Amino acid sequence: MNRFEGKVALVTGAASGIGRATALRLASEGAELFLADLDEGGVKETAAEITAQGGRAHPHRLDVRDRAACRAIVAAAVADGGKLDVLCNVAGVLRGAAVDEVTEEEWDLLMSVNLGAVFFLSQAALPHLLATKGNIVNMASAAGLTGQVYTSVYAASKAAVVSLTKSMALEFAKRGVRVNAVCPGGVITPMSRAFQPPEGADLQLFARVIPLIEPAQPEEIASAVAYLASDEARFVTGTAFSIDGGQTAG
Ligand SMILES: NC(=O)c1ccc[n+]([C@@H]2O[C@H](COP(=O)([O-])OP(=O)(O)OC[C@H]3O[C@@H](n4cnc5c(N)ncnc54)[C@H](O)[C@@H]3O)[C@@H](O)[C@H]2O)c1
Repeated sequence: MNRFEGKVALVTGAASGIGRATALRLASEGAELFLADLDEGGVKETAAEITAQGGRAHPHRLDVRDRAACRAIVAAAVADGGKLDVLCNVAGVLRGAAVDEVTEEEWDLLMSVNLGAVFFLSQAALPHLLATKGNIVNMASAAGLTGQVYTSVYAASKAAVVSLTKSMALEFAKRGVRVNAVCPGGVITPMSRAFQPPEGADLQLFARVIPLIEPAQPEEIASAVAYLASDEARFVTGTAFSIDGGQTAG
């Protein structure tokens, strides 16, 4: 498939896990990629892999909490790529903590990376997406569709991403820009591997977040992102697409 031939895409969180798999997938289908991540070495590695496979990729170190830098990376992508067709907001952070142990610093970190950056990158990208009739894919989570123990702030940030996705989709549908979210659960990445429940956690409460089937690989999520970002999904906007092995089905 070459669904992204001639398209320009910006992917955050592109150094690792789902963001990296998304960048590789879009590049493999012809997109020119602008890659952004706090992890400069990792994002350069992703770019090198894309280039080695014959694709075009531009790595950028970006802290998505820096709103001026978010605006600057969108401007850089448009300046160097000539336009912007797709924005994938994938960068995210997860911290395990009981409600009574969450610090103000953790609240601010999760809300600014998982939610604030999605809003401000989208806001910066939208004028350019209006020009190309492009689209946005946001990485929400199964945790944004249900409550989730010991990750209350993370779950709240992802629920807000789902809400933002729907509001933006409504506001821009008639102007030709689609906005969708993906809600994965249980994907094997450095984030999920590093997750630690807080000390003394009631492990029985985790029963609801155990997927009914084998956890996903990042490439399986990237494949859904690619569909939503492609013209095949012309009629899909405002969706929160679950890929969670049935976790949120009941
Ligand atoms: N792994 C899962 O099971 C799972 C499930 C649901 C949703 N998600 C979401 O998918 C997205 C990708 O997660 P992943 O599992 O691939 O994790 P990951 O840790 O492998 O990747 C996250 C990336 O975000 C980057 N990042 C973190 N803070 C940043 C910042 N301030 N500025 C720029 N980049 C920053 C990291 O450097 C990293 O490269 C996240 O939004 C996560 O919440 C993951």
